[in-house]
Amino acid sequence: MPTQEEIDKIVESTDMVELVSPYVKLSKQGKSYKGLCPFHDENTPSFVVSQEKHLAHCFGCGKGGNPIRFLMDIKRISFMEALSELAKKNGIPLKEEYIPKQKQDFSLFYEMLSASSKFYHQNLTLTQSGKAALDYLYQRGLDDETIKAFEIGLAPKQKDSLYKVLKEANYLEFNMIELGLIEHSNQGYYDLFTRRITFPIKDEDGHVVGFSARIFANPDPSQPKYINTKETFLYHKGNILYHLDAAKTEILRKKRFILHEGQMDVIASTISGLKESVCTMGTALTLEQAHVLKRYANHAIICYDGDKAGIKASLKAIQIFKQAQIQIHLVLLPAGMDPDDYVRSHGRDAYKEYFEGHLLDELEYRFETSFLQMDLKDNTAVETVKMNVFGLIQNMSSQTAKEKYLKLLATKIEGSFSAIVRDYENFSKTQVNQGYEEDFFDSPIEFLPADEKKRIRSYELRLFLYARNSKERAFQIDKKLGDSIDAFSKKNQELWIQLINVYYAKHDVFDDSSFCSILTEELKEAYLHNFDLIRGAIEPYTDEDLECILQKMHEVHLQILNYNLTQQILNTSDIELKKNKLAEKFSNKKKSILNKRR
Ligand code: UTP
Ligand code: MN
Repeated sequence: MPTQEEIDKIVESTDMVELVSPYVKLSKQGKSYKGLCPFHDENTPSFVVSQEKHLAHCFGCGKGGNPIRFLMDIKRISFMEALSELAKKNGIPLKEEYIPKQKQDFSLFYEMLSASSKFYHQNLTLTQSGKAALDYLYQRGLDDETIKAFEIGLAPKQKDSLYKVLKEANYLEFNMIELGLIEHSNQGYYDLFTRRITFPIKDEDGHVVGFSARIFANPDPSQPKYINTKETFLYHKGNILYHLDAAKTEILRKKRFILHEGQMDVIASTISGLKESVCTMGTALTLEQAHVLKRYANHAIICYDGDKAGIKASLKAIQIFKQAQIQIHLVLLPAGMDPDDYVRSHGRDAYKEYFEGHLLDELEYRFETSFLQMDLKDNTAVETVKMNVFGLIQNMSSQTAKEKYLKLLATKIEGSFSAIVRDYENFSKTQVNQGYEEDFFDSPIEFLPADEKKRIRSYELRLFLYARNSKERAFQIDKKLGDSIDAFSKKNQELWIQLINVYYAKHDVFDDSSFCSILTEELKEAYLHNFDLIRGAIEPYTDEDLECILQKMHEVHLQILNYNLTQQILNTSDIELKKNKLAEKFSNKKKSILNKRR
């Protein structure tokens, strides 16, 4: 460790106002400076900076401290990283061993990318040839200030404009290529982006690491709407989040972030006052990205398009955030709009107001989306919606919440509340009485508590749902399930074998009636009965869901083995046999522990 004197020297030579200024807009008040605290959400400034004392302090949340503490908190870095950064800034030498291992020096590359971004931006804003693109952006509701703030640009139509600029500045072709800016062919070097509007993509520290480029005038339908930088050593689409560099202070303050589908939505949200907005680069959210975001806040608001693809992507993102243990809300915009559409048709204030007033939790979101693209004049559609909603609420423990949703459902489908309640009661009766209970007769899980039995039974059915969706999936599940198929009820075991070993041996695609045609009368009845139960069930979504179910089936299988062994031990008087059975039981325990670790 550096000595206390060395540390003090670094603290005392730091200009606290200069250090804080990039994060907080400060104004002078007497001897000190004041601004909105970057660590919590507030409307009246309680973050006070004293240049004299080299201190910052928030009278609202208590955060702050000396320059080292401030830098550690705001940049989420270690003590030594903060110390060495300040030492470097103030030109104070620090022993080599104290300086945290420098990441590779990328400054040359950052310079090249930033120069490229400036070139595109100037080409858009300062040249005659930028006019058409500029008009397009104006017409999409962006103003000069926004175009500047997001450093939006235009890649010229000549195929080697950027190349010439970079060459002129003496950068090497090799470096241009590895940054994904330039390509090489027999005809020479050419730019990757031409005649497209460019959005620089920055890393968490604000270095440009790549671009997203949108087609605008007379789009050629064979060309993709957006082209993004391909993977480079600086640009990894799986961990980059557009706009995180600029949004992070606001994310820290509001303790939440908003996840959008695309850049135009992030921009629309930001100019409407929701500055905590980010998006992934045309790819599904990854766990890695969730972990990056979690360093700043523990609360996600997903605001994707309200169309089918957007809903599907939202449900996927929910799974990822859950895995990262991040709290979730969602905003569903009306009529399949995205934020950018909404801002353009209703204005910024209306958008913000709608957004804050329509934060849904997961269940509310699933409820709302059950009605989308459903023609409620069509009886079958109404039945499907009803089953979906019944399925959603049946595991809720709160009766008041159940009633709330049934009331809402009645209003939406214009049915009477009492009729809906009757339907729901019938539905839950089928689930319990006719469906589950009679089947437990031949079930190996008789010994489990009733609600546990119900749950396992619904997992079984869900595995059938997955297996019906795709043959490849079916075989995958069968393989992973292994012996645990023994946990299925007897009839479902037989049905499973028919499905995997008989039906899919001949067919590639599942079809209800041809499957039924290979079944005995008894099995057919069981099959149809099963699918009565899950009629209207929500289609399976994600690999994570599936993994959970499989894991649960393995656990249940072990419980069964254990239960059976215990019974045998209890029922036998033969000491030798008792010992053997006990040994077997221990080996099961071990297996179960291993299983949990997988
Ligand atoms: P969308 O295509 O859903 O957005 O792409 P949009 O609202 O219709 O586009 P605008 O508003 O007219 O510009 C959403 C995001 O997906 C990525 C981009 O990051 C985009 O912002 N994307 C889209 C691609 O990477 N490639 C594409 O071809 C299309
Ligand atoms: Mn859009």
